[in-house]
Amino acid sequence: MPKRTRLEQQLLEKAARFLPGASTGNTSYPDGLKFLVREGRGSHIWDVSGNEYVDWLMGSGPLILGHAHPAVTEAVIKAVEQGSTFFATNEKAVLLAETLSQAMPFAQKVRFTTSGTDACFQAMRAARAYRHRDKVLKFEGAFHGTSDYALMSVTPPAGEEFPQARPSSGGIPAAIQDLMLIAPFNDLDTTAAIIEAHHNELAAVIVEPLQRVLAPQPGFLQGLRQLTARYDIPLIFDEVVTGFRLAYGGAQEFYGVTPDLCSVGKIMGGGYPLAAVMGRSDIMSAYDQSQAASEDYINQIGTLNGNPIACAAGLATLAELRKPGVYQRLRETGGKVRQALSDTCARHGIAVQSCGEDAIFDIFFTSQPVASYRDGLAADGRMLGRLNSGLLAQGILKAWPQKFYPSLVHTQEDVAKTVAAFEQVVPTLRS
Ligand SMILES: Cc1ncc(COP(=O)(O)O)c(C=O)c1O
Repeated sequence: MPKRTRLEQQLLEKAARFLPGASTGNTSYPDGLKFLVREGRGSHIWDVSGNEYVDWLMGSGPLILGHAHPAVTEAVIKAVEQGSTFFATNEKAVLLAETLSQAMPFAQKVRFTTSGTDACFQAMRAARAYRHRDKVLKFEGAFHGTSDYALMSVTPPAGEEFPQARPSSGGIPAAIQDLMLIAPFNDLDTTAAIIEAHHNELAAVIVEPLQRVLAPQPGFLQGLRQLTARYDIPLIFDEVVTGFRLAYGGAQEFYGVTPDLCSVGKIMGGGYPLAAVMGRSDIMSAYDQSQAASEDYINQIGTLNGNPIACAAGLATLAELRKPGVYQRLRETGGKVRQALSDTCARHGIAVQSCGEDAIFDIFFTSQPVASYRDGLAADGRMLGRLNSGLLAQGILKAWPQKFYPSLVHTQEDVAKTVAAFEQVVPTLRS
């Protein structure tokens, strides 16, 4: 168990005093395992007491180049020296918009936001303005940030009848529940029946093309594409996680299905507060301020929209990702850890399902296949908690409760250390 210095203990006490749940609202660790990050470099972070961790959390995805990558740091320092924000369209935002559109060529226009939450919220709003309808279909268990709409049926108990939505947060107006329809991921028949029954009320279908760590089954995204195209319902891909991770062109390139709108965030901001909604220009034209007199005009004024420092970090990150062989390397690193985790569990007679893709993955403790949120509920969540805690105690940090985020800076040594930790922890999981 990592030791805590007096300074870190004092800071943890302050965290408990001043932050709800002693947390900034990201990962919340169990008592005894709580720590405060001091710094990160490459694939490692250090807590305030100086304990070192191999980091597979990587800022929850943005840091595909690792912490404090020299090219990103240099670009940011240069940008900081040129001024931090202008509230006027800046050079770097234009260059990043061009780069994003080149990576995801269906998207002719880009509107920047400062979080993935806002990008997904904007995508739903843009679809409503285009379709002149109010309802949005999302998938059970999918996370599209923390707007009132997105927080429907993220973590519902099993058994709610589709397409009934159920809020997964306090403070959401009751009326929102009737504006969202919920479908089961990877179940095209049920989804098709809901779309057929409600197409005339639907403004959009929003999907994480890879939902949390669940890969789409063959034909699922293609089926969604056909169904939505039939009724001219905009299909929104939430690529906040998958964009520039599954491939440079995101899930749309990796799975070969093109949406009408998408949200991007995380990697494209290089670890800084930046995200964007992107899409077909006929839908995105609703953001054009010269159309302010139109009823469909979307007012999306934001103090930090397209912030030049974040855009500089994004441009530097994406330049690194255009280098040859990068995605193959990322998948190789992830594939090794993923395989080792499954193999270790199998050797110890523990049934698991390995889910996701090599660039983002995790396991479920169950002998049954996991293709949807409800399948995942049937898995042993306490065992997953013990795996996470056990690994953390060994100095291996992953996303809680689920996800390994491999990066381009994880070394063979990091992989070996992680695999050795699996060997230590997996045999203890049954207790
Ligand atoms: C798929 C997905 N969409 C949207 C979001 C929200 O992004 P942000 O945390 O930048 O608001 C997240 C955050 O993890 C996400 O995983």
